[in-house]
Amino acid sequence: MTDMTEPPTVAFPQNRTCPYHPPTAYGPLRDTRPLARITLYDGRPVWLVTGHALARTLLADPRLSSDRTRPGFPAPTERFAGVRDRRSALLGVDDPEHRIQRRMMIPSFTLRRAAELRPQIQRVVDERLDAMVDRGAPAELVNAFALPVPSMVICALLGVPYADHDFFEGESRRLLRGATSAEVMDARDRLEAYFAELIDRKQKDPEPGAGVLDELVHQQLRDGSLDREEVIALATILLVAGHETTANMISLGTFTLLQHPEQLAELRADPGLLPAAVEELMRMLSIADGMLRVAAEDIETGGETIRAGDGVVFSTSVINRDESVYPDPDTIDWHRPTRHHVAFGFGIHQCLGQNLARAEMEIALRTLFERLPTLRLAVPAEEIPFKPGDTIQGMLELPVTW
Ligand code: HEM
Repeated sequence: MTDMTEPPTVAFPQNRTCPYHPPTAYGPLRDTRPLARITLYDGRPVWLVTGHALARTLLADPRLSSDRTRPGFPAPTERFAGVRDRRSALLGVDDPEHRIQRRMMIPSFTLRRAAELRPQIQRVVDERLDAMVDRGAPAELVNAFALPVPSMVICALLGVPYADHDFFEGESRRLLRGATSAEVMDARDRLEAYFAELIDRKQKDPEPGAGVLDELVHQQLRDGSLDREEVIALATILLVAGHETTANMISLGTFTLLQHPEQLAELRADPGLLPAAVEELMRMLSIADGMLRVAAEDIETGGETIRAGDGVVFSTSVINRDESVYPDPDTIDWHRPTRHHVAFGFGIHQCLGQNLARAEMEIALRTLFERLPTLRLAVPAEEIPFKPGDTIQGMLELPVTW
């Protein structure tokens, strides 16, 4: 029987009604800060963190676990529930294992390393735009530009042949958005088999390449600090997280700018605003909308008790529009202090690739709008398909002309 004294909870996740705003159905969640209750697809109630300060406190709390093999770990979709059996690297492990893996990866993802990669990113961006312009307007921007740019960059950084991009882009899509858990598991198996073979080839290579995977194979695998399964799991997360996310930010960022001509004109007039604009777009778009944890111990917070075994979800789109931190949060404003948004997460799992992602977004958006000053949508905005709410947000297609 329903307890009539309990307010009804909101179903999570839901599809956005506009690709750059949280679903309108999340309205009650935005009014319930800092902590709300939501219902997952299977009817299970879990906590949703909605307040900015509480999000940063809890994301730094070691009593919340990222280990998806732990009982009670929340599944946002049926397909996700079916793939929790195996451990993943970084995002799916807690300290101390996480700390060891993260320390190995940090040198390849520092601010300095991202700065060194800028000329290479610029070359990739220029080449893709040349090819798109040569083919002539109109173009489909996701496949012509937004996806290949981060895909080529992460391949070069990791030491993965870009020639295989049709394979790994397709499998990453199935991994994130497959229709069933069987399809998701098949995609994961195929990606892991691909990396097993690539690692074999790299092991046999007497002249190691310059990629991150070459280093893992010739150092950490050889000296025993990582085993083969761990190298495969790391390669999989770095490749998938390294191209899908940034591709979505470039496509959705472009769409959002085209829908906000005044803010775009301001950016064009003062390109120095670009780093701030990238942060504000990250806050507004909050494309990774639903970070997942399970409580390993009881946690008392603001008069509520999150019990051991309770699922805890962080909605980045709701947290990043907390009006106590971001006044008039639904408006794009390049001049607001946006720095502390949680669109890259927070705490020990805060995005490893954020310096690289920022460099890619800045170079891609600046060059696209400089090179094509008359860039505009090729069809009415309402006809352009965007991704469903249960995956990373972005455009499925973006037809443009100039
Ligand atoms: C704009 C693009 C990106 C967005 C919005 C994004 C978002 C995020 C978020 C929200 C998390 C934290 C998840 C959690 O705590 O549950 C995360 C973690 C991570 N991201 Fe990104 N990411 C982006 C680009 C990248 C890139 C380019 C890479 C390159 C390899 C990358 C690699 C990772 C990894 C490895 C983790 C896990 C870190 C850990 O557990 O220590 N991401 N990302």
